[in-house]
Amino acid sequence: MNYTIIPFQEGVIPEVVKPNPAFLEEITEAGIRALLERFYLCLSQSPIKHLFPSDIEELKKAGQTSADFFIQICGGPQYFNQNRGAPMMKQRHAPFAITPEARLHWLVCFENALEPVGCSEISKQSFWDYINLFSIRMVNSR
Ligand code: HEM
Repeated sequence: MNYTIIPFQEGVIPEVVKPNPAFLEEITEAGIRALLERFYLCLSQSPIKHLFPSDIEELKKAGQTSADFFIQICGGPQYFNQNRGAPMMKQRHAPFAITPEARLHWLVCFENALEPVGCSEISKQSFWDYINLFSIRMVNSR
């Protein structure tokens, strides 16, 4: 696995490719839900914990809303659209100050959460590549 983080560069908005659907096929919906639960637990103990719910039940709920999104983006059922409406990720992140440094902490937590996933390297890499690039687009603060 290559977990190299692509540096944020002022004014550069990268094209993003969706993850390989094999990722969802291999790890299953339950696997993505467990991945997002680990990820949110990591976030809640990270230097950007102030951005996320401090109540454990709220935190788990947020993790599962995100899981809805990631299942959908990996080619699964449209849970996020059904429960929350159109993704509009840029707008949804606008209330939170996401600096280039916050992005690094966010990605490090995702790396930790992905580590125990036992799928093929090729599909895990495609998932990492997706969040690596997409996260650049979520930076909205300096
Ligand atoms: C760049 C680093 C990022 C930070 C610091 C960040 C932070 C946040 C925060 C604070 C929230 C609101 C609390 C919550 O519901 O979890 C949120 C929601 C969310 N984020 Fe991010 N985010 C980042 C990148 C991304 C990326 C790259 C994606 C998708 C590829 C994403 C997907 C989501 C989703 C699906 C939600 C839930 C939206 C909703 O509840 O309607 N985030 N994020």
